Amino acid sequence: MSSASSFQSHKGHPRRERFSVSRLISALAWPVKTIVRRLLGEGFYQEARVTLLHEHGGVGLDWKWGNSLRRVHPIRRDFGWQSGQPIDRYYTEEHFLPAYHTDIRGRVLEIGDDRYTRQFGKEHVTVSDVLHVNPGISGTTIQADLTDAGHLQSDTYDCAILTFTLQFIFDVPAALNTIARILRPGGVLLVIVPGISQIARYDMDTWGEFWRFTSLSARRLFEQVFHAEDITITTYGNVLSALASLHGLHSTELTKGELDHWDRDYELVIGIRAVKRLDGRIGA
Ligand SMILES: C[S@@+](CC[C@H](N)C(=O)[O-])C[C@H]1O[C@@H](n2cnc3c(N)ncnc32)[C@H](O)[C@@H]1O
Repeated sequence: MSSASSFQSHKGHPRRERFSVSRLISALAWPVKTIVRRLLGEGFYQEARVTLLHEHGGVGLDWKWGNSLRRVHPIRRDFGWQSGQPIDRYYTEEHFLPAYHTDIRGRVLEIGDDRYTRQFGKEHVTVSDVLHVNPGISGTTIQADLTDAGHLQSDTYDCAILTFTLQFIFDVPAALNTIARILRPGGVLLVIVPGISQIARYDMDTWGEFWRFTSLSARRLFEQVFHAEDITITTYGNVLSALASLHGLHSTELTKGELDHWDRDYELVIGIRAVKRLDGRIGA
């Protein structure tokens, strides 16, 4: 049966679908849970909840909304931005960039804004450039399309930071060639791309959103430009953090243990560090 026809038959029985005992129990339990939570403190409550769920074989996703997964609308559509740190940013800001913060130094290029240049490079950055594809954006020092940027000078940057950018560029190999060209020999490229994600609506409507990546596609793409041994790829995520991210939960709504559990088959985000060869050569 197609998903369209099963949806139709669903709609034919609205009353039966609307009432659910588990929903009622969940609603009644909510004030109790809130009090227990306050008494125990959020960290302890979450750890206890996870332990109990594991011991009882998992009884569903008991997020604070008390909702089950049988829903077609996300809890939030904004990646969690309005209420906290999006889960994909947790992996970027608490794991990937801290692991490579010493690479962010000297002359640094970042796309869209300079937040990670400032946050992780601090006083080790001598020049900070911000590239935007569109003209007239405040805070931007360079306007360029990375797939067609012959005007950017070669061998210029010690570090380039491309977080959540390559999925918006159709011709990824051309963009990687530009970045490799404008890095200095020995310069480092730090990239985060999504593996599992909803569409970023603003970006989709502004410049287009084209890709999701895997560790393997990232490796193939980067090996066209960088030497295999100069590329390090790390994946982050698990089924819970992927699901939570799709629902727009933010990082403090999961425990650190839940966020940091690594499952090779759930590549929520992929971090790539690539170093330009000292002889300056680009290409495999
Ligand atoms: C969501 S922002 C990502 C960068 C931001 N620093 C971050 O971490 O979220 C998307 C960026 O993609 C850039 N972009 C889209 N298409 C591009 C292209 N063809 N060349 C260069 N940048 C592009 C836009 O300028 C925008 O700043």
